[in-house]
Amino acid sequence: MNQVYLTGITTTGTPHLGNYAGAIRPAIAASQQPGTEHFYFLADLHSLIKGISPEEVRQSRMEIAATWLALGLDTDKAVFYCQSDIPEIPALAWLLSCQAAKGLLNRAHAYKAVVQDNEQSGSKDPDKGISMGLFSYPVLMAADILMFKAHKVPVGKDQVQHIEMARDMAQRFNHHYGEHFVLPEAQVDTSTALLAGLDGRKMSKSYNNTVPLFAPEKKFRKLLMKIKTNSLEPGEPKDTEGSALFDIYSAFASEAEIEAVRVQYAEGIAWGEMKQFLFEHLNTLLAEPRAKYDELMNQPKLIGEVLEHGATRARSLSQPFMAELYDAVGIKPMWQ
Ligand code: TRP
Repeated sequence: MNQVYLTGITTTGTPHLGNYAGAIRPAIAASQQPGTEHFYFLADLHSLIKGISPEEVRQSRMEIAATWLALGLDTDKAVFYCQSDIPEIPALAWLLSCQAAKGLLNRAHAYKAVVQDNEQSGSKDPDKGISMGLFSYPVLMAADILMFKAHKVPVGKDQVQHIEMARDMAQRFNHHYGEHFVLPEAQVDTSTALLAGLDGRKMSKSYNNTVPLFAPEKKFRKLLMKIKTNSLEPGEPKDTEGSALFDIYSAFASEAEIEAVRVQYAEGIAWGEMKQFLFEHLNTLLAEPRAKYDELMNQPKLIGEVLEHGATRARSLSQPFMAELYDAVGIKPMWQ
């Protein structure tokens, strides 16, 4: 039986170099492996808990979809869709809500972090500002995963607890109503190191230190020129360890190329020169997908059609499965 891989991308913000190296590139490569099936989707329902504007949701959905397509995701192989196009997902989330212990969800890191912030800031209400969407986020995520009987869920470390919760909910449901769900496993890829951002910390939207993957060439160069370095002068030997420039370069270069730059560091390459070198390297690599991305962003209808194609494939599975699950809990046509 084929191994089923599934992962969701929350539709907030603009895809950056870190997203590419850490998630998109490995996902596209994995989707070409024989004997595997891949579901990749835009988690637009999840993005609503972040309180972002409708305009940002709209823009981010487009940008993320265009990015994956521009980078070569084969949407005849991988099933690529929007979560909101699959009405069976929120329906399943309700069935799972009726299984999930509230105490289980109380232990979710994301929820607990907000409660802790509230307590530390002296608020009388520990649940201040916490929506039911935030609280039950792991239930919707479990529905995403269980709906398509995923075996493996490639995620970052911060999401492992959510996959464990999905297993818990699946087990409870199976126990009550019979074996309907596959128990998923998190797949945390430790070989794709976290990429450094402009300030040397991990590249992340929350640190505001990202380099958008498809920023126009001029802006892209300007951003790379801002990468933090130390005050060593040209000619002084430099350490590759802890150098954000080296870190970013390494994520997009071959072993031989990395080795050559190591030598340059030892020989004291000037920071300005290294920045220009990194810019040229990435710019060459991204020129073609960037052009495709720009083209796609001007054809929202085409992006919509591709996602619709994915949603049709996804629903051919989710519709009968949801009917099976309703049947299992006792909801079926009266005459049956
Ligand atoms: N919570 C995930 C994140 O923030 C996104 C996500 C939503 C997801 N549903 C999923 C990931 C299902 C994997 C499987 O990164």
